[in-house]
Amino acid sequence: MTARHESQTAAPSKGADCASGAHSWAADCSASMPREGPAPLPASPGAQIVYDGDAALATGLNRLRQEGLYRVRRVLQSPQGVRPVIDGRSMLSFCSNDYLGLAAHPLLADALREGVQRYGVGSGAAHLISGHSEAHRRLELDLAEFTGRPRALLFSTGYMANLGVISALCARGEHVYADRLSHASLNDGVRLAGAKLKRYAHRDVTALARMSTGSSASMIITDGVFSMDGDLAPLAELARLARAAGARLMVDDAHGLGVVGRLGRGTLDLFGMDDHEVPILVGTLGKAFGTFGAFVAGSETLIETLVQRARSYIYTTALPPAVAHATSAALALAAREEWRRAHLHRLIAHFRQGAAALDLPLVDSHTPIQPLLAGDSLRALEWSLFLEDNGVLVTAIRPPSVPRGAARLRITLSAAHQEQDIDLLLELLARLPKRGGRG
Ligand SMILES: Cc1ncc(COP(=O)(O)O)c(C=O)c1O
Repeated sequence: MTARHESQTAAPSKGADCASGAHSWAADCSASMPREGPAPLPASPGAQIVYDGDAALATGLNRLRQEGLYRVRRVLQSPQGVRPVIDGRSMLSFCSNDYLGLAAHPLLADALREGVQRYGVGSGAAHLISGHSEAHRRLELDLAEFTGRPRALLFSTGYMANLGVISALCARGEHVYADRLSHASLNDGVRLAGAKLKRYAHRDVTALARMSTGSSASMIITDGVFSMDGDLAPLAELARLARAAGARLMVDDAHGLGVVGRLGRGTLDLFGMDDHEVPILVGTLGKAFGTFGAFVAGSETLIETLVQRARSYIYTTALPPAVAHATSAALALAAREEWRRAHLHRLIAHFRQGAAALDLPLVDSHTPIQPLLAGDSLRALEWSLFLEDNGVLVTAIRPPSVPRGAARLRITLSAAHQEQDIDLLLELLARLPKRGGRG
């Protein structure tokens, strides 16, 4: 077994028999494995304090290894793309969110250089101090136009946008309903607000109706395209329920924008929904648009409220203006080059057809996110390593990114792939080890 395999699957360790429950490791192990648990409190005020916090952390890390949940980072020695170089080896990748193949596009690189010449490198301050540049202002106007909404507000990341919006708009104790598979940042936003998170079964509007009837709701939140499953939220029904409950509907369309809808305008466009039905739209810029950052689009009043109250907007340095400048170029390119979406959707159909012929357990998704369910984390890892040994990169996605028992290969397609790439992937998927891990 190579070092790479060891780092991902891990040998049993000293804490092996402590494995029970995902987040309680330090406490679980402290009685039977005193040297690996937290140090006991001193018996008297004069006693010497010996706190070995790292030992407790090491126990936790070993637990992750035993469960196949330990994650390692791969170092790219090339631009992002479908053929990244890793450890000096060119791989065929099916696991970035660069759906349109723009992350290393020469036009965007030129725009970034131009932005640096015009604005320098760092923004130097938060937006409300002195970090808000002409490039940010321009991009916000472009995003408002692209989404067909009165205004847009840039955030540094999608994670921060979700935290900022929800914590600015929801009060402590209010009920917020969220799809069980909504992105972690949405759930974390609710927690930060001190609101009550009520999670309904995935895409189950009947369950949501049952839960929300007769109780007040301040917000319903959902991904537009689900990040780990690639399927679409039932937006029309969610909008109807939100209206009935007097709640705002917030859609995070991180994986829909640029990819679906006319000119890549996203899931709302696909369903023909406007800003009255979905008053809060969040989008990210580091996926289909190939750059970095995120935005919220909505009414004048909504955006001005966020400017005044969203803490993850106020208390952070503004995105480098050159990145904003490059993103304006990316938006225009993504809308203009319809062939990218057309090619991508042909590849999706080709992949699904091939996968169906092989009887592969795919999720019912028609977006570039095509998860292949493994169930067990160790099996997902084994599949990922088999592909990697054959020159194909598909990361195993495991809890807590997905629910327990729902580990998978999250295969993502890009407009930069060719049909032959998909055929090669399918050939390898047909030869995946049937059994692995503990499954
Ligand atoms: C649905 C969704 N929302 C938000 C984010 C966070 O966006 P960012 O990477 O810009 O922080 C992600 C993924 O990263 C996502 O999948």
